[in-house]
Order: sequence, then C-alpha cells, then structure tokens
Amino acid sequence: MISYNFSGRATVVTGAGGGMGLEIAKQLIAAGGSVLMIDLKSKPEEIEEGDEVIFAQGDLTDPAFVNAAIQNAYNKFGRIDHLANVAGVLLFGTDVSLLDMDPDIWDKVLDINLKSMVHTVRAAVPLMRKSGGGSMVHFSTVQCLRGDSKPQDAYVASKAGVVAMSKSLAMQLATDGIRSNVVLPGVSHTPLQDRWSEDDVKAMNAYVPIGRVGSADDMASATLYLLSDAASYVTGVDLIVDGGLMLKY
Ligand SMILES: NC(=O)c1ccc[n+]([C@@H]2O[C@H](COP(=O)([O-])OP(=O)(O)OC[C@H]3O[C@@H](n4cnc5c(N)ncnc54)[C@H](O)[C@@H]3O)[C@@H](O)[C@H]2O)c1
Repeated sequence: MISYNFSGRATVVTGAGGGMGLEIAKQLIAAGGSVLMIDLKSKPEEIEEGDEVIFAQGDLTDPAFVNAAIQNAYNKFGRIDHLANVAGVLLFGTDVSLLDMDPDIWDKVLDINLKSMVHTVRAAVPLMRKSGGGSMVHFSTVQCLRGDSKPQDAYVASKAGVVAMSKSLAMQLATDGIRSNVVLPGVSHTPLQDRWSEDDVKAMNAYVPIGRVGSADDMASATLYLLSDAASYVTGVDLIVDGGLMLKY
C-alpha cells in the first residue's frame, strides 16, 4: 500500500459524510493532514473533530455557507492547500431524458453537481494562492463519455461540465502552482448505489473487465495521488478509474 504524507497540508473535502468523500477524508487524516469535511448529512460517528478535523454540515449550493466554512477552516488551520470536490447526486426516477424531464430537476442537479463546485473553487483558490499553491480534484463519471439507453441527462451534462471546468482551471491556475484534475469513477459500491440488490452487484462484478465493481477506497487512492506531490507534474487530466469498464464501449 502506498503511503502519503499530508502533514502540514489542509484539504477541503465535500461529500465527506458519504461513501467516497468520507473515505478520502479518512485517508487524508490518516496521512497526517488537516481536513475540513463538508456534507448535508451530519458528522459520521467514526469521525472525531479536533485541532486537525472540522466537520461543517450544510448545503453546498449555498455560497454563503461554503465561503464561511472554508474561511473558518483557513483561520483554524492557517492554510488551504487542497480541494476535493466529491459531492454529487444522481436523482433516480426524476433525472431522465431531457425530453421528458421536469426542467426544475435539470436546474437542481446542475446546481448541486456543477455550480456547487464553482462555489468551493471560488472560496478555496484565493486561500490556496495565499498558502503558496495547491491542487484540486473534482468528481465526474465515466457516464458522461457516452450515450445511454436509460438516460440521466442532467447528471451526465453536469459531470461533463465538471471535466470542462477542471481543464479551464488547470490552464488558468498553472502559473499560480495550483493543479486541477478530474476523477471519473465507474460503477462503485457506495450509499449512492444503495438501490443495488446482491444479484445486481454479482452481474456488475461479472461485467467489469477487472471482475468487480469499484469501491470508495479505489477512488480515494486515485484522489490522494492526484492531490499529492507525487502528481506535481499532472494537471488538466481526466483519470478514469473504472476497472476497465470503458474498454467495452
Ligand atoms: N457510486 C458510483 O457508482 C459513482 C459513479 C460515478 C461517479 N460517482 C460520483 O462520485 C461522487 C461521490 O459519490 P458517492 O458514490 O460517494 O456518493 P454518496 O451518495 O455516497 O456521497 C455523496 C455525498 O454528497 C453529499 N451531498 C449531496 N448533495 C449535497 C449538497 N447539496 N451539499 C452538501 N453535501 C451534499 C451527500 O449527502 C452524500 O454524503 C459523486 O460526485 C458521484 O456523482 C459515483
């Protein structure tokens, strides 16, 4: 297992009450980092707040909340070095074809999955500059790279926007020493996919070339690499972490 050293570094992790965000936060804390965890959900029991860990419960679509939470973390930690934009929603049943969808659902999904990242980036980048540079990882999905016979059009459009946003930020911020990259997970077993039955998981395990669906740990490994100095020459990249799923399309 590769070990990273994030001591003396402060990271903002969104979606940190859930599957991938929580795992990323836990691995950053284990690597000695200071972490601001943000989620709509309340603090997971296993997380203990202290000098190096803050949990801010609130809505990422509210820029006032986002600004206050990130500024508070900067005041406490004395720096902000990294941002992991992990929070996202997939609204099963209501996020369908754009031809049939309630336009309010489109707005809601874009607000949560894409515009919330605009809020966190706008709050974090000035503080990263003050801290001497840094890196960001934003979560998309492999689904935004292809069509789908069972469409979730707002979800994939929001996630394609994440890819475009990251590349533009990578170019704009390179000379500030701030990197921006994307993780595109394949199907992964987290609370987002609670609807899967055991048989669904078996069928997906058989379908993925590597022989299993992804885990929060798979995504945390990719994220810690991209945030860390091991990736200091990597920016504007879209890292597919899907066990080979996209090889089939
Ligand atoms: N699980 C998968 O199969 C999969 C596949 C591809 C991409 N992704 C993406 O990976 C990321 C993480 O997914 P996950 O599987 O860990 O999902 P998850 O549902 O387990 O976690 C997402 C977290 O985001 C939080 N959140 C949602 N809206 C919020 C808001 N407005 N304000 C604050 N917090 C909010 C939720 O409360 C939740 O804890 C998401 O962006 C998702 O779209 C997941």
